[in-house]
Amino acid sequence: CGIVGYIGPKQAAPFLFEGLSKLEYRGYDSAGIAVFDGNRINVEKSVGRLNALEKKVEKALPVGQVGIGHTRWATHGRPSDVNSHPHTDCSGRFVVVHNGIIENYLHIKEKLVAKGHVFTSETDTEVVAHLLEEYYQGNFEETVKKVLSEIEGSYALVFLCEQEPDKIICSKQDNPLVIGLGEGENYIASDIPAIINHTRKTYILSDGEMAIVTKDSVWVMNRQGVPVSKKVFEVHWDAEAAEKGGYEHFMIKEIYEQPKAIRETMTGRLAKDDSAVLFEELKWTPEDVAAIRKIVIVACGTAYHAGIVGKYFFEQLARMPVEVDIASEFRYRSPLIDDSTLAIVISQSGETSDTLAALKEAKRLGARTLAVTNVVSSSIAREADQVIYTWAGPEIAVASTKAYTTQLISMCLLAVYIASLRGTMPAERVKELIRGLKELPSQAHELLEDVEPIKTFAQKYGFNEDVFFIGRSLDYAVALEGALKLKEISYIHAEAYAAGELKHGTLALIIEGVPVIALATQRDVYEKTLSNIKEVKARDAVVIGLAMKGDEQLQKYVDHTIYIPATDKYLTPILTVIPLQLLAYYAAVTRGCDVDKPRNLAKSVTVE
Ligand code: G6P
Repeated sequence: CGIVGYIGPKQAAPFLFEGLSKLEYRGYDSAGIAVFDGNRINVEKSVGRLNALEKKVEKALPVGQVGIGHTRWATHGRPSDVNSHPHTDCSGRFVVVHNGIIENYLHIKEKLVAKGHVFTSETDTEVVAHLLEEYYQGNFEETVKKVLSEIEGSYALVFLCEQEPDKIICSKQDNPLVIGLGEGENYIASDIPAIINHTRKTYILSDGEMAIVTKDSVWVMNRQGVPVSKKVFEVHWDAEAAEKGGYEHFMIKEIYEQPKAIRETMTGRLAKDDSAVLFEELKWTPEDVAAIRKIVIVACGTAYHAGIVGKYFFEQLARMPVEVDIASEFRYRSPLIDDSTLAIVISQSGETSDTLAALKEAKRLGARTLAVTNVVSSSIAREADQVIYTWAGPEIAVASTKAYTTQLISMCLLAVYIASLRGTMPAERVKELIRGLKELPSQAHELLEDVEPIKTFAQKYGFNEDVFFIGRSLDYAVALEGALKLKEISYIHAEAYAAGELKHGTLALIIEGVPVIALATQRDVYEKTLSNIKEVKARDAVVIGLAMKGDEQLQKYVDHTIYIPATDKYLTPILTVIPLQLLAYYAAVTRGCDVDKPRNLAKSVTVE
């Protein structure tokens, strides 16, 4: 999760520790450093906090003027000493640190194992070190190019080679990497906070670039070796702004990380020809799935809202009966569960007490259990029979954003997976949906490019004391999350209603000027939603409509319209939630609220 590197006249280790400590805020579960001592590269690593590693080396700090370091936030393989970075090849001559996911690592690993390579960790990263060893014929740079041409996935990678210790080579694809330019020394880091105490002159690497960094030079080129001329980027941020990558708050940073998080959660889980969802971690057979009679989904907060969307997916795509429960309610309603039940618990942190307790109860009753979580080896991940990880990366803001969208992706993938095993989706439909999924990262990106109208609405209506969200079907499920986001961080009283339910009570609250956010992306209930919108308009509410591009009608009945890119009807929640997150964010900023740490709330609730 955090990467640092140093080459110059000073001792590397003190900087490596200092740089990694500046990245601690991002969350991690283990740490490691590698330093060249003039003879060989010494690697030290340890599970746990950075001070566990510091303790380990306090008597003999690795000596040397070239080194790299890493703090790991587990993705492939649990947090442990061996799974910590840096990783090395069999000989220990090649050392690598990595952020991201190597998609084709299993394939490469099989090939290398057949050639006699012995692997020590469960990580995807280790294959990179072994590949270097496999290809090295006396030229480090050429070897790195060859390795980069073979690996697929997302990465910020930094390489050391014992034979050529006068340079560090690094490259990036979909993960940040910066080079800090010093005088007779240079720095490498995944994020600017690690280096701003040492230099403010940087090269920010772009996707597909690699750099050869020596103590007095930095050569940047593309992966084929064609030189790239880089402009020096002067960092003017203070330490606090640097932690947030220049964004004002973690929440908005994480909102903007969604295209990447969505892409990573799908990584390796979609067949190349779009014909199937692959879950290596599940390996279910049609018989396994036939044994499931009912699904119960249990979670809290935003994760619970993801569960509600999941219910629509499982029922409609896989034709399975689904119950969704709030975790704190689940245990006390004597749920009718047995060994024909699949209990899915969803939790970003994997530590929420109520969710953990519900999981244990489901297990006690004999259910088969599956955790959907963002934190590898968290309590919930360890307790459940099986786990699907949402690869959203660490989420710091209390209000969950990228965890939610990746939970939705996981729900959708799982529903298609089960549907395929049950034969409830025609092959063509599976393809269509998978193609839709693959479009989502760029569509989410598109939505994030023009936030001005949403900002304006937030500024205009941010001082209202009540806001209502309405929608039907999947739009209703997202409305719930939109309302939660708004109340959590802006303290505006926000309620979500199934649009058809309004007239059974809530309509009494709709008076002149009350903002109503109306989601209308679902074709099969479109006309009915429109009638409900007319009902609130007739009471002089101010209506902001959310429609899919190509919808010409909605704008005629509402005051403002926000459009999401056209997508499959099942995939709309992943896009509609983004403007709602932004609306909540800008409303909170307008009202001067503490966006990342709203009053009375905690990121992870470990009390029942
Ligand atoms: C807290 C957080 C929410 C989160 C909920 C469940 O209330 O503030 O953002 O949705 O806990 O957390 P979990 O980690 O289990 O998803």
